[in-house]
Amino acid sequence: MTLLGDTITTGGLKGARGEILAIRGGQPLRGSVSVKGAKNLVTKAMVASLLGESPSILRDVPGISDVAVVRSLLEAHGVRVDDGDEPGSLRFDPRDVESAHMEEIDAHAGASRIPILFCGPLLHRLGQAFIPDLGGCRIGDRPIDFHLDALRKFGANVDKLPSGIRLTAKDGLHGASIHLPYPSVGATEQVLLTAVRASGVTELRNAAIEPEIMDLIAVLQKMGAIISYEPNRVILIEGVEKLSGYDHRAVFDRNEAASWASAALATDGEIFVDGAKQPEMLTFLNVLRKAGGDFDIREDGILFRRGGDLRGVTVETDVHPGFMTDWQQPLIVALTQAQGTSIVHETVYENRFGFTDALIKMGADITVHPHGIQDGPRRVPRRNLEQAAVITGPTPLRGADITVPDLRGGYSHVIAALTAEGESTVRNVGIISRGYEKFFDKLAGLGADFDVIG
Ligand code: EPZ
Repeated sequence: MTLLGDTITTGGLKGARGEILAIRGGQPLRGSVSVKGAKNLVTKAMVASLLGESPSILRDVPGISDVAVVRSLLEAHGVRVDDGDEPGSLRFDPRDVESAHMEEIDAHAGASRIPILFCGPLLHRLGQAFIPDLGGCRIGDRPIDFHLDALRKFGANVDKLPSGIRLTAKDGLHGASIHLPYPSVGATEQVLLTAVRASGVTELRNAAIEPEIMDLIAVLQKMGAIISYEPNRVILIEGVEKLSGYDHRAVFDRNEAASWASAALATDGEIFVDGAKQPEMLTFLNVLRKAGGDFDIREDGILFRRGGDLRGVTVETDVHPGFMTDWQQPLIVALTQAQGTSIVHETVYENRFGFTDALIKMGADITVHPHGIQDGPRRVPRRNLEQAAVITGPTPLRGADITVPDLRGGYSHVIAALTAEGESTVRNVGIISRGYEKFFDKLAGLGADFDVIG
């Protein structure tokens, strides 16, 4: 059995499902890894193919399970999905889009939040859409109120059913003026994927402007959309009647790149991340340098290592161009090895420090403040939902038996086990393949000492 793309098997252990690792820590990770297209763009660009009257090609698609989920959902809606004309590319033919059976949607939706983004394209193509209860990482309540409010403003009728949400738009969808209460990535994508074929103009205020959003706008513009990005998080979309397919190479995965950078710092190793680029990671690189990390920007990637002893830092997660919430979990593992105190304010999700329980079990000195803390001048406006973690170091980590809670928490647990003295058993690691391609192979290539034991 192999995990998506991984060649590392179970070391011949019969019945091992790639869910449990035995990790012997203490070795610096050294070598290079390559990152492909961003999970948080690729899955949305796949949905956008539904809007085209002709086939689309997406390049640099990572072999991760979130892609497999969206592929199955597209096929359930009659989209023909084939390998593209180069390795790592997919071709989507949406000419025979049809309604999918609820059971099929349910079967495939599973752990993903992406089905909510099918609404706009399906309403345009079929006049109706059904969305099951959504999955995704348990890092907060993750409501979809902004999405539904926007869809209603476009003229969609929203029926909440016990099994999910049914949407209809028998008179079609029209442009709208939408002001998001918070620059939500998902709600901005919802508006983009709906407004591009709605009649009239849509004005979106307080929009998300993450690099993945900009890349989705590039995809839609290639399809024939008219989207202008104004100052102060305003996006204007002039609806068009028809869109064609696209041919697009996805922006690189800055979340995966930042994860490997933190792994280099935590294990005191040296990792070259092939495909990483500076512009999308400016804020991360600043924090890395403040924490005592060092990096080399090269044509084809970025080399990461320590630049001496690590130092405590204060970080506030935020929407782009702030410090990304998906970067904090791997970084915290490195900060357990830093001299002094670090404070991480999590302002995007209300429950994203659960993974620290395992780090504390391994010997880390971390205190979580469930209602956040007030400490000195703040750059990011305080949100009621925020929490804070205070990390004091350096503390040696020791091996333990731990279970992965979510995608980024999972990556962090494996890196903590590689940083720790002794052996760890890390369970439920399968979830990591939702966002990290060829994870086991990459670890082995960096000299990690582990076995797949279950
Ligand atoms: C996307 O999630 C990413 N996921 C997340 O990455 C990422 O952490 C997040 O954006 C922020 O950058 C994907 O792209 C698949 P949001 P999304 O809508 O779209 C609240 C990873 O590890 N909110 O920007 O779900 C929400 O509860 C994942 O790769 C509402 O209140 O994020 C949260 O507090 C984890 N109502 C905040 O906004 C809504 O209707 C940000 O959510 C929508 C959101």
